[in-house]
Parts: sequence; C-alpha cells; structure tokens
Amino acid sequence: MHPYHIPAPTPAEFHAAAFGKVVIITGAAQGIGFAIAERFAISGAKAVIIADLDPNLGIAAKERIEHGAVFIGCDVSSWTDQVQLFRETIKRFGHVDLVVCNAGINPELMVGGECDYLVELEDGDEEYLRPQTKVFDVNLTGVVYSVRLAMHHLSRDGGGRIVVIDSAASYIPVPDQALYSASKHGILGLVRSTSKRRECSKHRISISMVAPWLTETRVTSGIFQEAISKAIPVSSPRDVASAVSTVVTQPLEKINGKSLWVQGQLSTKSIPEWALRTGSYREILALCGSRQAWSRTSKLIADEEAVWESLATLFYRACRARTYAGVGS
Ligand SMILES: NC(=O)c1ccc[n+]([C@@H]2O[C@H](COP(=O)([O-])OP(=O)(O)OC[C@H]3O[C@@H](n4cnc5c(N)ncnc54)[C@H](O)[C@@H]3O)[C@@H](O)[C@H]2O)c1
Repeated sequence: MHPYHIPAPTPAEFHAAAFGKVVIITGAAQGIGFAIAERFAISGAKAVIIADLDPNLGIAAKERIEHGAVFIGCDVSSWTDQVQLFRETIKRFGHVDLVVCNAGINPELMVGGECDYLVELEDGDEEYLRPQTKVFDVNLTGVVYSVRLAMHHLSRDGGGRIVVIDSAASYIPVPDQALYSASKHGILGLVRSTSKRRECSKHRISISMVAPWLTETRVTSGIFQEAISKAIPVSSPRDVASAVSTVVTQPLEKINGKSLWVQGQLSTKSIPEWALRTGSYREILALCGSRQAWSRTSKLIADEEAVWESLATLFYRACRARTYAGVGS
C-alpha cells in the first residue's frame, strides 16, 4: 500500500465531472450535505436530489439552490423510504450517477450525557437503562441501505460512484461518543469490504469515503466556539464538499476504497500513528510522513482526555500541504 497525494480539482475539472450528472445526497437539507448539493448544482449537475428527513429544511434548501435541486423526503433508516427515493429519482431522471451517503446523527454530542451508554445509575436504582442505539439505524443501517440500492442502480446504468461521509471518529477513539464512533467505524468496514467486491470492478463502480474532522454544523454548535477558543483547527462544510469534489474527479480505480481525511482547509497525509497502532490499521503506519511528529503526538495522547487538543495540534503542524491525501483501504 502506498500513500497518494491528490491535488484538489480546478473548477473546470470539477465542472467536467459534475456536468449533467444525477446526484442523490442524503441528509442534504443543511450542513455538510447542503454544501455538497450546492457545489454540484453550481457546477452544472442535471439533478441534485436532497434526500432528507426534515421537509421544512429540505424544501428551503431546494429553494436556496434552485438550479436542478429536488427535495425528496426520506428517512434513511427506513428501507421503504430509500427504495422510494431511488424509484422516484429513476422515474424523474432516468438514471443515477452518484450517491453521497451523508445523513448522520450524533446524539451523544447533541443531547449529551443522557445518551452516554455507560451512564451511571443512581444509588438504589434497580432498573437497567437500555442504551439508545438509534445512531446505528441511521449512521450504519442507513448507509447499508443506500449502498445496496446504489450498487443495484449504478450497475444497471453503466457504473458510477458512491461517496460515504464517514468521520475522524471512524479511525480514532472518542470516549464521550462511543456509539457514534462505533457506527462510523462500522461504515469504514462496510466501504473497505464493499470496495473489494467483484461488482465494483465489473460494473465500473467506486465506493470511497470522506472523513471530516470537526466541522461547523448544527451537530457541533455546542462545542465549536470552545474548539476555536483552543485554536483547534476546524473545517467548514465547504471544505468537506471540496473533498467530495476531489473524490469524484479521480479515476475510479484509484479512488475506490480510499478515504480522504478533511482537516480544516487541509487534508492530512494519513491517519495518525497512535490511532493505528493495533489491528488492521497497523499497515497504514507505513504511510506516515514525519515519524517525529507522530511520536511526539503519541506521548501527548497518552492521556486520552487530551485527545481533542492533542489531535488538533498534531494535524495543524503535520498537515500543511494544500493537497488531498489519504490512505488505502
Ligand atoms: N459536523 C462534523 O463535525 C462532522 C464530523 C465528521 C463527520 N460528520 C458527518 O457528516 C454527516 C453530516 O453531518 P452534519 O454535521 O452536516 O449534520 P447536520 O445535522 O447539520 O445535517 C444532517 C442532516 O441529516 C438529516 N438527517 C438526520 N437523520 C436523518 C435520517 N434518518 N434520514 C434522512 N436524513 C436525516 C438532518 O435532517 C440534517 O438535515 C454525518 O454523517 C456526520 O456524522 C460530521
């Protein structure tokens, strides 16, 4: 496995990749999904399907984007809704070129302590609290449904691309968001494994990931100011949309099974060493550029509670090149 360095596409290159395309984006009524939808619409996509749970925000997003945008109500955790989403798209536009699996929730971050699956019981409380597992229905099962339907339609339509928005939490431990992190690790496994399926090469389909670090959206509104006050580098939804545009301008074989990590306006050289010390990620160590930087951070990170600050420091120092790079699957 080798590191790869990918320059962000020029507007003309992205225009060529987006022009005339039919794109489904789940969870596109706001945040990262909206930024992706806007980018494709501006660059001449034939249709940008905003597939979202929230009809008010979805319709408002469609009106803001105007050109080529369509809202289709869809709960990604419902198989029936997703079947309907793809059927409706095919009925109206004839085919699909790209599916961006973006819809996701993070109850541990948004709701806080009461969603902690290890929440302490009160003294004398005899009841066990069943952990809330909806995050898997949306973040993992929802992506399984989207990928299954996308593979079906893309294989019939002569190929295409699937981009899954995973997360930094697909690679690193996030103690306060254990279930969210588990859901995002799950889709990493799904994408890595699916990318090796014969169907991908046979039907000219790529499945790739974009892994945002802390990005300013509704989900992170509670911690964003704190992050900025600690000089932690943060991303904007447009930075993530830019990484998606990089994915779709790459040759299918090159980008299949790959992940682009988005860190602020920059993207990292690879996943940090400390996160990859064990298991199947160990092989990715070979990709790390600056041994010194990684070992310094390993020490910092020894105290897991310092994870956010330390990671931020690492990436800020280590990843300055304005190119996208990622790791093989
Ligand atoms: N914001 C970050 O820092 C960050 C970092 C890493 C990864 N991500 C991932 O990026 C993706 C987008 O996150 P965001 O920050 O833009 O969130 P957001 O809350 O701003 O937007 C998410 C959208 O998904 C929709 N949605 C939620 N549940 C849905 C469901 N069941 N079916 C259909 N739509 C649904 C919401 O209505 C909303 O419009 C998520 O997968 C998230 O895990 C975000």
